[in-house]
Amino acid sequence: MKATATANSNIALVKYWGKRNNELNLPNNSSISMSLNKLYTTTTVEFSNGIKTDSLIIDGKKASKEEIERTSKHLSIVRKLARKEIFARVESKNNFPKSAGLASSASGFAALSLAATKALDLHLDRKELSILARQGSGSASRSIEGGFVEWVKGSLEDGSDSYAKAIAPNDHWPELTMIVAVLTKKEKKTGSNAGMEKTPATSPFYKCWLDTVEQDLEKTKKAILEKNFSLLGKTAEMNCLKMHSTMLTTEPHLIYWEPETIKVIKEVLSLREQGTECYFTIDAGPQVKVLCMKKNSEKIKKYFSAMKEVKEIFVCTAGEGAKLTEKDLF
Ligand code: PMV
Repeated sequence: MKATATANSNIALVKYWGKRNNELNLPNNSSISMSLNKLYTTTTVEFSNGIKTDSLIIDGKKASKEEIERTSKHLSIVRKLARKEIFARVESKNNFPKSAGLASSASGFAALSLAATKALDLHLDRKELSILARQGSGSASRSIEGGFVEWVKGSLEDGSDSYAKAIAPNDHWPELTMIVAVLTKKEKKTGSNAGMEKTPATSPFYKCWLDTVEQDLEKTKKAILEKNFSLLGKTAEMNCLKMHSTMLTTEPHLIYWEPETIKVIKEVLSLREQGTECYFTIDAGPQVKVLCMKKNSEKIKKYFSAMKEVKEIFVCTAGEGAKLTEKDLF
């Protein structure tokens, strides 16, 4: 009744923002992401009859009450599927800062879903795992598959048609690189769940977001399949700014950017003006992710490493989907 899984984090090229069902994490719009090979979470789950409650250690420290509750809620879905009333010891390790806009909840809930179902001897297929992971964190639905992924919003009330499907595998476009610039390792004040709950009802721009997202999805799929970097970068950057426009105009305002964020955005624009093609994308946090082609990645990495605002850099290509491993954390 013990298993360990690893899952890569993923960064959306077309973002998910706003839900039609908070309990099941059913989104108002479909989204597309790229799995990141260098950012991952490893999670070990052990169910045992001898324990009276679930426990959780993240990165060597006892997790907060909220984190334990969220994990326990997720484990209860797995317990229900397995028809077992049994608690678990969970230990999780990220190789990058958590809760800072680097999608640790995506890799975390994907790894947890795979490890917990395996530990209870449930054999879910990729679609079922994606549906399960989605209930822990929407973006986790996309970390089950590797490469380039679309999380289709679905329309059914029970969420059985809202899951992530592969668009192209991780070796489809080896030149495509995402450079993650970590600017601050502080945990953010408003998590994405709390944040996105307020936007649909309060932002005057949310309707515009929904009205244009279908076009962004079509352009992004085409760009991935045809390996058209300019189309991909332009669409992703614009989509990110549209999402942040709805965040900024949410009541209370969601300003996830820090001064360092703007500084890096300006540097991306200036690199582009000088002829090095690159584009930015940002999630619910201050970090900036820069899309570029492999031939420019060393230059861009050096450029950003020299900035005092940049604390750490990960140069990623498309990663694999969630998988089981023998390397238990305890
Ligand atoms: O899955 P969540 O609740 O962490 O929400 C993710 C929201 C964004 O990162 C801002 C966008 C996305 O699609 O990943």
